This record gives sequence, structure tokens and C-alpha cells, in this order.
Amino acid sequence: MISMSIKNQFSKHANEYNNFNIIQQIAAKALVRDIKNKPKNILEIGCGSGQVYKYISWDVEKYNAIDFSASMCKIHPKNKNLEVACYDFDSNEFYDFLKNKKFDIVISSSAMQWSKDLKKLVGFLSETTNEINAVLFTSNTFKTIQNITKSNSPILSLEKIEEAFSTYYKCDFEVHTYNLEFENKKELFDYIKNSGVSGASATLDFKTAKRLFKEYKLNYLEFEVIFVKTISKL
Ligand SMILES: C[S@@+](CC[C@H](N)C(=O)[O-])C[C@H]1O[C@@H](n2cnc3c(N)ncnc32)[C@H](O)[C@@H]1O
Repeated sequence: MISMSIKNQFSKHANEYNNFNIIQQIAAKALVRDIKNKPKNILEIGCGSGQVYKYISWDVEKYNAIDFSASMCKIHPKNKNLEVACYDFDSNEFYDFLKNKKFDIVISSSAMQWSKDLKKLVGFLSETTNEINAVLFTSNTFKTIQNITKSNSPILSLEKIEEAFSTYYKCDFEVHTYNLEFENKKELFDYIKNSGVSGASATLDFKTAKRLFKEYKLNYLEFEVIFVKTISKL
């Protein structure tokens, strides 16, 4: 049920996404900038509206992009070497799709933190590629909000993410924190509502939401992302 509500939240915001994804854009740009050797055969998972694809500046032979939100797939750019497909990356259908496929690289930006079983997903990906470059939000995103509302982040922790990738690959991990400043509290809370990142905050009851508004003293929102680059398979 949780994954359903997250999916609905992403779908609901699909069209207004471009205005609300500043941190995702920074992540997507940095992710592509770090890709070396101009890989020809790419799989992107959790492609959303195409923020990553738009930064790919070299010729590719085949670009497979998948996302479980039909409305995201619909607004993703289209191209002759590009195939966009609607898959949940935690589903057997997606694992079947991966069977007997090989990719030069698998990439993902701001999406894999939602995986219900990241270790299993990375395990299946490791059958198809020697190289994964991914950036994931961690559970330290909106850390102060979680402290005030005494709630746990719906997304994966740094430890879980590192463990999942390190099970199959020798990796390089880089953690970045970003503080996104706002003019006033209303703008800050509107951002959370519209960012599609929040997950849990959409489910706050009125009383908790009111307390949060009163007790949140920062003029910025906290984000933490981890850049994962595989070095070699184990
Ligand atoms: C924050 S957006 C990032 C989109 C894009 N990669 C970017 O950098 O702008 C996260 C995306 O992951 C997708 N997503 C989340 N869970 C997923 C799952 N289990 N299977 C496939 N896609 C998923 C969402 O639909 C959404 O498009």
C-alpha cells in the first residue's frame, strides 16, 4: 500500500515536476558529467520525465529507460534509439526484462532509494552490467522534520544503500548534503508538498502538521544524497 501511495504521489506531480526538482536536477547533471567512455548501450531506471536523458550528449546505440509511473513515461522525451517502458524496478516483470540483456552501464538518479529490496535489485542488475552509476537520496533527507514529527524516513538509509551495492561490487561512495533555502515558511512547506520527495509528510495528520509548522526553525530544507560508482564486480 505504501508503494501505491508513493506511486500516486509521483504521478500526481508528473506535470509540475520540472518546477520542483532543483536538487534532483543537480544530481542528474552530476551523474551524467561523471560518466566516462561514452557508453553506447545504457539502461536508466526510474527515468521520470527525462532529466538524466536530456544531459546525455553523445550518440548512443540503445537507451532503455524505465519508470513505474505511466504519466512520467508519457512526458519522457522520445527518440529513435530510445525505448521507454513502464516497469516497477522491484517487480518480477522487470527482473524478467533484464534476463539475457547486457548493458555498458546502468544509471539512475534520485529513484533507487524507493526500492523495497535494493540488494535484490542490484543483484539482478549485476547480471547485466559491470558498471552502475547511481545517485540516491538517503533517509537523512528532511532529517529535522523527522525528528519533530517523530517519524521515520520512508527512504533507505546510507548504510542500507552502501550494503546493497557492496554485496556485488567494489564501489566508490560519495555523500553530499544540500541545504535548500526559502524566503519564508509557507514557501518551504509548499515545496515539500509539491516536491514528490516527501513520501511521509503527505500522510501527516493535521495536529502533527501544525506542530511541525510551529517548531521547524530552519529557513532551509535538508537533503542528503549518495553518489555510487561501481569500480569492479566482486
Ligand atoms: C525523484 S524522481 C527522479 C526522476 C529522474 N530520474 C530525475 O532525475 O529527474 C523518482 C522517479 O522514480 C520512479 N520510481 C519510484 N519507485 C519506482 C519503482 N519501484 N519502479 C520504477 N520507478 C520508480 C518515480 O516514478 C519517479 O519518476
